[in-house]
Amino acid sequence: MTTRRTFLAGAGLTAAAAAARPALASPLSPDDMPANPEGGRYRPPWKIGMGGGPMANGRQVKPEREILEAVEAAWDSGMRYFDTSPWYGLGLGERRFGLYLHDKPRDEVVISTKIGRVLTPDPSVDQVGSWMAPGPFDYEFDFTAEGTRRSVEDSLHRLGMAHLDIVFIHDLEEGQARIGDWEEQFEIALEGAMPELERMKEEGLIKAWGMGVNRIEPAVRSFREADPDILLLATQYSLMEHERALDEVFPLVEEAGGSIVVGAPLNNGFLSGRDRYNYGPDIPDGAFEKRARLSAVCHAHEVDMRTAALQFTAAPDVVSATIPGSRNLRQSVENAASMTAAIPADFWAELKSEGLIAENAPVPA
Ligand SMILES: NC(=O)c1ccc[n+]([C@@H]2O[C@H](COP(=O)([O-])OP(=O)(O)OC[C@H]3O[C@@H](n4cnc5c(N)ncnc54)[C@H](OP(=O)(O)O)[C@@H]3O)[C@@H](O)[C@H]2O)c1
Repeated sequence: MTTRRTFLAGAGLTAAAAAARPALASPLSPDDMPANPEGGRYRPPWKIGMGGGPMANGRQVKPEREILEAVEAAWDSGMRYFDTSPWYGLGLGERRFGLYLHDKPRDEVVISTKIGRVLTPDPSVDQVGSWMAPGPFDYEFDFTAEGTRRSVEDSLHRLGMAHLDIVFIHDLEEGQARIGDWEEQFEIALEGAMPELERMKEEGLIKAWGMGVNRIEPAVRSFREADPDILLLATQYSLMEHERALDEVFPLVEEAGGSIVVGAPLNNGFLSGRDRYNYGPDIPDGAFEKRARLSAVCHAHEVDMRTAALQFTAAPDVVSATIPGSRNLRQSVENAASMTAAIPADFWAELKSEGLIAENAPVPA
């Protein structure tokens, strides 16, 4: 049987990877990871997971070896939750996670993937959206029951797994390329994808399902019109922006006994110092000013801003996990370590008194 280790050894990569590895050891074990309370609807049991966008050639082509090191570093740092999608690198993200995770004890791994885009072979594809050198596939949105079943089965093949933990209905929202009328698609999902995911839960193929979106409206509709277990809410809950999520989404999810996985907790790198914001071409008015003010408070309290951003997003009880994306060993190790770094209570109090975070935003104890 080929495992990741034998594959790497065969390719002569294991020694090279070890030699290239900086002296960076994680101080954490899985037992140190801040945990979620048990009970209720299924939720990832740890407060941090690895977001799988950047490791799937998002914005730049990354060598397979570096990506496997990033996943291995996440694992060695105690992370057990990994989020991906058929969309990430058009299959590449799932194949990369699968290569590392397929022979790990299945009950230790928590994997979420998504449905919504069904992939079809197309050798002419060389870049789609921000995916560089993706898998040789084109895609179409399909929120029917049949499309959902096919997508889940394709994901299982790419991941090398016989069941999934969570399936999110991906990007069913206004503004996505090729989605058409998102409200029509939502109706299709209500009749098709959502009941099919419920059936998969009964079959034991998945443990939980919900929306995986960047916008408030489909998140709210899903809890009002269906019975999801969980929500992946990206770009709406971060140090930069969180008021609408707190007021409009959190109460609904709490009432349903569900939980929220926070996507893009760093606003796609903005809070770790990159000059890009979420996934749009522009940086919103006031964003640089707010980041500078956050940075000044961080500096005064000797707090690392990325660490504060991750702890902030993980703090609410209704949040089951925050899932920063990482694309190399260093980022995986640092993000895991951020979860147990000490941040003084005065720091959070000053963010509130400065009006940088909402009064009603939960902060770490
Ligand atoms: N609709 C959905 O369901 C949806 C939408 C969005 C996101 N998500 C999920 O949420 C995950 C997180 O979102 P994201 O990856 O787009 O954005 P993010 O987590 O907000 O930011 C990730 C970026 O931050 C930078 N970064 C991460 N760790 C760092 C470190 N330790 N030091 C310095 N820089 C660091 C890296 O930028 P560089 O690459 O420039 O170094 C990385 O690409 C995704 O990967 C995906 O799993 C889901």
